[in-house]
Amino acid sequence: MRIAKLGELEVARIGLGAMGMSHGYSGAGSDDAESIRTIHRALDLGVTLIDTAEIYGPYVNEELVGRALRGRRDEVVLATKFGLVAHNGRGPGTLDSSPDNIRIAVEGSLRRLGTDHIDLYYQHRVDPRTPIEDTMEALAALVQQGKIRQIGLSEAWIDTIRRAHAVHPVAALQSEYSLWTRDPEQVLPVLRELGIGLVAYSPLGRGFLTGSLRSIADLESLDDDDFRKTNPRFTGENFQRNLRIADEVQAVADEVGAASAQVALAWLLAKGHDVVPIPGTRRVSRVEENTAADTVELSPEHVAALDALTPAEGDHHTEEQMQMIERR
Ligand SMILES: NC(=O)c1ccc[n+]([C@@H]2O[C@H](COP(=O)([O-])OP(=O)(O)OC[C@H]3O[C@@H](n4cnc5c(N)ncnc54)[C@H](OP(=O)(O)O)[C@@H]3O)[C@@H](O)[C@H]2O)c1
Repeated sequence: MRIAKLGELEVARIGLGAMGMSHGYSGAGSDDAESIRTIHRALDLGVTLIDTAEIYGPYVNEELVGRALRGRRDEVVLATKFGLVAHNGRGPGTLDSSPDNIRIAVEGSLRRLGTDHIDLYYQHRVDPRTPIEDTMEALAALVQQGKIRQIGLSEAWIDTIRRAHAVHPVAALQSEYSLWTRDPEQVLPVLRELGIGLVAYSPLGRGFLTGSLRSIADLESLDDDDFRKTNPRFTGENFQRNLRIADEVQAVADEVGAASAQVALAWLLAKGHDVVPIPGTRRVSRVEENTAADTVELSPEHVAALDALTPAEGDHHTEEQMQMIERR
C-alpha cells in the first residue's frame, strides 16, 4: 500500500478503526475471534495504523487490540486516545485532559495494549476546563519518558490546534471526514501549513455510504445500543432523504467498477497524501474490500461529481456529542 505521512510518522494510507469490534455498532463484542482475524488480515495486507481508545468499551477494545497484536507489535503504528474517561471519580463519558488524568490514563492504555509505548496518543476531545497548553506539556513529558511517540488531537479547531502545536509538534488531527461530513476541509489549510496530517474517522459514514443500510427494516434490525439508532442522519425523515446520497455514491461506484465503500475511501485518498482514512470493520471480508481502495483511481470528473453530492440532512452527531466538538 502507498505511504502517507502524519507529521513525522509514516503510515500506510488506509488504516483500521477497531472501535466497532467492541463498541457502538451492532454485533460489537460478539465475535472477538473474527475481530482478531480482521486485525491480522489488515496487517497482512499492509495496513499499519490501528486505531483504538480507552473509552471504547470502555477499556475492552484496547484489550482486544493488545491481544491481536501479541507478537506483531512492531508491524503497527498503534494509536489510542485519552480524555473521555475521568479517572478521578467522574468516570467514562466525562471530559478530562488534566495532566493528572493523563498520567493515570496512559498507564492503563499501555497495560491493556500490552506495550511499552504508544505510537500516536490523541486527546479524544478538547477539554474546556484544561488549557490545551497544560495538556500538551503533560503529553510532551510522556514523549520524553518514551511512553508515547507522537501526539494527536481529535475534533479540535484552528485556535486549539495552533496553541497545541506551539507547545509541542502535533502529528495528526483525527476528525470525522467523509463524503457527507466535510467540515475538516476548513481546517486542512492550517494543518498543511503546520505539517500536521488528517486522520479521517467514520470515513464510510458509519456504514451508510456503503449502501448497506437501505430501509427502515435495516435500521430496526440494529442493536438497541447501536449509535446509529440515535444519530440524526439515520433517524426520522432524514434517513429516507439521505438515501439519495448513497445512490449517488453507488452510481459512481458502478461507473468505476468498484464497491461504494471503496469509492468513499478513494475520494478521501484523492484529497492528498496527508489524509488517512481509518475505516472500521470487524469482518475479514470487509477489511479486504476497504484496503483494496488504495488501487481504485478516480478520474477528476468522478472526484468532482463526488464533491458535489447532495448535502446530508441532520448533524453527524447527537446534540450532546456535538457540544464536545470544536467548530470555531
Ligand atoms: N476520534 C473520534 O472521536 C472517533 C469517532 C468515531 C470513530 N473513530 C474511529 O474511526 C474508526 C472508523 O469509524 P466508524 O467505525 O465509526 O465508521 P465507518 O468506518 O465510517 O463505518 C463503520 C461501519 O461500516 C461497516 N463497514 C465497514 N466496511 C464496510 C464495507 N466495505 N461494506 C459495508 N459496510 C462496511 C461496519 O460494519 P462491520 O463492522 O459489520 O463491517 C461498520 O458498521 C473507528 O473504528 C474508530 O477507531 C474515532
